[in-house]
Parts: sequence; structure tokens; C-alpha cells
Amino acid sequence: MTRLPIKICLPLLLLAACGISPAMERSPTPASAVEAADWPSHRSPTPVDAAMERRIAEIVTGMTLEQKVGQITQPEIRYITPDEVRQYYIGSVLNGGGSWPGMDKGASVEEWAALSNRYYLASVSTDMVVQIPVIWGTDAVHGHNNVAGATLFPHNIGLGAANDPALIERIGRATARQVRATGITWVFAPTLAVGENRRWGRTYESYSSDPTVVALYADAMVRGLQGELDGEGDVVATAKHFMGDGGTFNGIDQGETRATRQEMITRHGAGYYAALDAGVQTVMASYNSWNDVQAGEDHGKMHGNRELLTDVLRGQLGFDGFVVSDWNGIDQVPGCTKDHCAAAINAGIDMIMVPEDWKAFIVNTVSDVREGRIPMARLDEAVTRILRVKMRSGLFDRPPSASVYNGRAEAVQASMLAREAVRKSMVLLKNDGGVLPLARDRKILVVGASADSLSNQTGGWSLTWQGAENTNADFRGGTTLLGALRRALGAANVIYSADGAGVDVSAFDAVVVVLSETPYAEFQGDVRHPAPVQHSLNYPADLAALRAVSGKGVPVVTVLYSGRPAYANDLINLSDAFVAAFLPGTEGDGLADVLLRGEYDFAGRLSFAWPGSACSTGEGPGNLVQFARGYGLSYATPTRVGRLPTPTTPASCETAEP
Ligand code: BGC
Ligand code: BGC
Repeated sequence: MTRLPIKICLPLLLLAACGISPAMERSPTPASAVEAADWPSHRSPTPVDAAMERRIAEIVTGMTLEQKVGQITQPEIRYITPDEVRQYYIGSVLNGGGSWPGMDKGASVEEWAALSNRYYLASVSTDMVVQIPVIWGTDAVHGHNNVAGATLFPHNIGLGAANDPALIERIGRATARQVRATGITWVFAPTLAVGENRRWGRTYESYSSDPTVVALYADAMVRGLQGELDGEGDVVATAKHFMGDGGTFNGIDQGETRATRQEMITRHGAGYYAALDAGVQTVMASYNSWNDVQAGEDHGKMHGNRELLTDVLRGQLGFDGFVVSDWNGIDQVPGCTKDHCAAAINAGIDMIMVPEDWKAFIVNTVSDVREGRIPMARLDEAVTRILRVKMRSGLFDRPPSASVYNGRAEAVQASMLAREAVRKSMVLLKNDGGVLPLARDRKILVVGASADSLSNQTGGWSLTWQGAENTNADFRGGTTLLGALRRALGAANVIYSADGAGVDVSAFDAVVVVLSETPYAEFQGDVRHPAPVQHSLNYPADLAALRAVSGKGVPVVTVLYSGRPAYANDLINLSDAFVAAFLPGTEGDGLADVLLRGEYDFAGRLSFAWPGSACSTGEGPGNLVQFARGYGLSYATPTRVGRLPTPTTPASCETAEP
């Protein structure tokens, strides 16, 4: 059988021709080498540079054990000073969500760049034979989201709705420039999760429940972020979280992904083949475990999964960059603690994200190698991979500060691009009576506290980890939808009421109601089974605000910000028009561009199915779908939605769910 290149395989998912057999025979003795061959075969697109490999080998040979262990250690900037980076030969630092230079949320771009330069200079001032520059990694997951003044793009769920890979590549380019402005050269993005259950608090970090979309976007985002890899506006990208993060049972973050090998290969793996093909240089291991219930094989936590991290990823998929663990991710491997985990290193983790307990980790790992629990060859391989990525990305040739963008505040601005992305990401679910677009010469009532909240508009991973602690001023820029409408229509024509109570609605030509989830990140955003997932139940004040203005003879346009497709038929029925805006980011002008009559129509189409009941949290059998993936109205093709069914929501989804 001729195997098609992976690029063709992905969009078409021609399973047989790609060497993926739909009904895979299980080998009687599951040796992992045999099972790795089940995965599509792939080679690194970056040719081996023999001179570079020789140079790396020489450096590694000249390193002491302590220097090697330092190289694979990644502390967090709150817990390590530049001088400690020098003293402990540290290979990498990261800043977590909501961690800034000097723990100042308002730190300037110059301050970020200055701190980066201090870490860099310290790393090349050691007593080593060859100095090895430190690499700083950051979560720029919707723009450079920890930096005050940086334009924040829509979160991935909205980008998925835009269905525009070229746009994604441009966002990647702009994000890379934002990051280089702060002296940082490595980004923990893109997230390639195929989100399956909207209970999951990271649903918005997933582009789509469709692996084909995730694969197309993986390619575009990696190309955008990495560029040529060693240019002044390029950063190293990370494919995360490897793998199966989007498929956990009941959508529990860091939980158990119950999937067959075939589902891992065709669904959860899809984004990785594309990212690797685009030359992604790092992969982050995932917190979840993998349990192939059907085959009776519980593979345990991904951080300890040698088969996938080594045999599949490096062997079969040809990955020659390095694998980084997730934040204290090693702690979840049986027998491990936050500061000690030979099993994860032996499984194939090359760089360990040990934010706080890095000193103890170094001591423990040094003795693991001395006492033979970690083979020296494994440590050398990890260091080799890290050095390869550092060399390829130009870190050995020039400091991160040698970029035209370094320290420049204007380089974190990308408002026109973000505004375009917002326009393209909005999905029109209902527009009965052609209420939208709104005429520009009318008087509008704007209702809902979220209308003037950059915090709700940007969601989690925005200035802070959870994103819930921010005021509009913290963003140092950006526009709320209220601000955008005032600017477009004139402040006198836009009256604002946070709760809509006691307002004479009849004095207006239309009401715009803005509803929103409040921000969350990771497990804190999970809606745990068996709780129903219904927006009006979780946010009763939103329902009250909408009720206060609905049914008064004046058209009601509702805009919902959410990190997940939230069951909302009751709210949709109270509205003449309903817009799913997801988490649009800092550029509210993009929302106004489409809501108001002008040159723009709705182009967004759902990248996740929209549920038809509060207990329908997935897309498989037994779930009610109100609007299918791919749905989205436009001005060009008016369609009446009418009254939607409102099935009774039980107090618990215990028995209601499939
Ligand atoms: C998240 C990762 C992130 C890392 C560093 C973890 O909790 O799962 O996505 O890159 O923290 O902030
Ligand atoms: C996140 C970090 C964050 C930290 C806060 C982690 O799980 O990934 O980005 O800074 O928690 O404790």
C-alpha cells in the first residue's frame, strides 16, 4: 500500500491510505514497539545538521552531571533569581499565568525585556566550558496574555469558528512579535486539544471538536509563531498537551481519557501530525491519563507514558525537539513527588517544569543519575534535544534582546488584526425579523454588566491565570462592546444600564444585552458532573437582566461571551437576535463592526455543536444538539429560528446523561 504524506492524510482522514487501519488487530503480546507502528509514520521536516549535532555532542561531553541536570530544569520566575540561574546552570525559566517581572501586573514591556536580559546574561556567565543561554517560556495563548497593554485575540474556540487558517497564521506571527518585544523566545501554544465535553474548563482553549480543524490550525499556528525559527520576530512553539487532554471522562480537567488506540490516533493525535509537519520544536506532556477501557489497557498518566512520549512521538512520529512537562505534572505520576520523578524522565520528558521545588529536584535527580535510576544516556539525550532547539532557534548566535521588537511597547499592539479576528469569530445563532444589523442613527439601550467588562470579554489566561481579578484599567488599552458602541453611535445615543431594572425600554429603538460567563482557567472552570450546564442557572443575574427588557415591544439583541457552547434556549427565546461571541479578547470594536449596519456580515460558523439541553454536554449519541457544528446565520441568507424547545432541566444530570 502506498502511504500518502501526512499532510494529505489529515484533512481527508483517509485512514487506510495513511496506514491507519480502521479495525486494528491487537497483537497478542502488546510490545510497545509493535504498537508504536500503529501510528502514522512521520519524519522531522528539519534536516539533520551534522555540524550542529557534532557541536552539541561536544558540549554535552564537556558538561558535569550538575550542569546537565540544571539544563533540564525549568523553575518559575517568582522562585528563581538571575543569579541562581547562573549558579545552578538552569536551562529554562517560565512565567506562569499571572506572573510578571517584580510581580507587578502593570510591568512595562521594557521591564519584561530587562528581566529577560538579566536571566540571559546570568546564564552565559557561568563557569561552564561552553555557555548555554537560558530559554524563557510563556503562555501566550491568545496573544501575549500576561502583559499589560498587549492586544489579546479571541480565545481558540472563537478562532475555530472563524474557520480561517490564514488568519491563524497571521495571529501567530503577531503573537510572536509581541513575545519577542518582551525578550521571550518560547511560547506554550498552540493547544491542540480536541474538546469533547463542554464541562471541561479548558473547552475555550480548544479550536474545535473536529480533529480536521485542529490539524489545519496546528499547522497554521506553528508556522505563524515559529516563522523561520531564528528570525527576530520568531519564537519556538509548543504543541500541547500531549495527548488526549480534550477527551477526559465527563470533561474533568487532568482526568482520565477513555479512548481506544484508534481514537487516540485519529482524534486526539490529529493536531500533532500537522504541528510536527510544520516543524514544531517542543511538545508539552498532558496531565491526563489514558485508559483504553475496550482493550483492558490502562496506560496511566501521560507524564509517565513511555510508549507515547518516546516510542510514538520520537520513534514513529520522528520528533527531534524536546518534551517539556506541565506545571508540577510529574507529581501525578505514581511514586513521584513534585521534586522527584525518575519515571517521567525515563519515559521521555526532557525538560521538567518544576516551578517552585527546583532546588530539591536538582538534588534528587543528580542522585538518581549517580545511583543508576536514570541512565546517563537518557540525561544526555534530554540535554542534546534542548540544545538542538536552542541552536536552531538562534539562541547561541545572539541574545534574545537582539531583535528589532525587543523592549518596544508598540510591538505588543495588534488591534486591527484582533478586531478582524473578532468579526470573523462571532456566530449568529438567531436573527428573527432581521433585527440585526442595527441601524447607526438610532438610540440604543445597552444592558448587562459584561457590556463594560474587559475581564469577561477576555476570559481566563488574561493578565492573570484565572482572568477574574482584572479591571478595565489593568488592560491598559482595549475596548469593551459598550465603549465600541458609544464610539460608533455617539455617547448620547447609547444608554447603559447594568441590570436593566426600571428603565423605560420603549424610549429606545433596540436593546443590546450582553451576558457572560465569568472568567476561569483549567480545572477551576470545570462544571462538574452531574451539575446541569445551563447559562441562566449558573448566572441568574443575566437571566434577570434579559427579562427586564424582553417582551417590551423593542427588539432585543443578545450577545453571549462564553468559553463553552452553553445551553441557552431559554435566553435565546427571550431574544430576537442572539450572537455567540465566545471570548473575543480586548477588541470590542470588532463586535460593533458586525452588529451595526456597515460593510461586515457574520462569517463565523460553530466549531463545536451547540447543545439543546442542559445535560447534553458532548456531541455523541444521546446528546441533544440545538445547532450543529458548522451552523451560523448571516445577513445574506436570512433564516427564521422561531421558538426553541426548552426541555426541563433536572436538578442533576445523573440519570439524564448518556
Ligand atoms: C497548564 C499549561 C501551561 C502551564 C504553564 C499548566 O497548568 O496546563 O497549559 O502551559 O501551566 O503555565
Ligand atoms: C498555572 C500557572 C499559574 C499557577 C498558579 C498553574 O496551574 O498553570 O500558570 O501561575 O497555577 O498557581
